Amino acid sequence: MFDHPDWKSTFPVRQSDEHDVSRRQFCKVACGSALAVGGGWLVKDKIFPQPKATEPKLIARVEDVPVGGYKLFAYPTEHHPAILVRLGENEFAAYSQSCTHLMCPVNYQHEKRQFYCPCHEGFFSAEDGHVLAGPPPRALPRYPVEIRDGEIWIRPA
Ligand code: FES
Repeated sequence: MFDHPDWKSTFPVRQSDEHDVSRRQFCKVACGSALAVGGGWLVKDKIFPQPKATEPKLIARVEDVPVGGYKLFAYPTEHHPAILVRLGENEFAAYSQSCTHLMCPVNYQHEKRQFYCPCHEGFFSAEDGHVLAGPPPRALPRYPVEIRDGEIWIRPA
């Protein structure tokens, strides 16, 4: 087929231009993909906002979570992992367990009073959820904790 005399008139691309064409096409595809992913990520929260809970949720009894300990639960829906930590005798805090970078679950490190995301070395304060280091773009969502008659509740914001 490539020896046919009409081939060059049918496909009038010089061999020296082939690299430019493929480089140009590659750049178009790469830039287009990057814009699509970046734009999609930016509007994701606008299109799919985090659902809001309407009812308080019982998480545990106070004696079930030792100082320095934690308890995993789901909030505001069963598809949203969350974590309750006991920072001190009368100090509890609850957050989404999904890293704000790419949604990996964060782990609690009580000795440093921080959350650690092993996916890309992200760190969050356990005091208020703000980003301490790494690529996460924003703080962990925090949920209001209420202690009632020895029970730990999350109440809707
Ligand atoms: Fe947590 Fe990337 S997913 S730092």
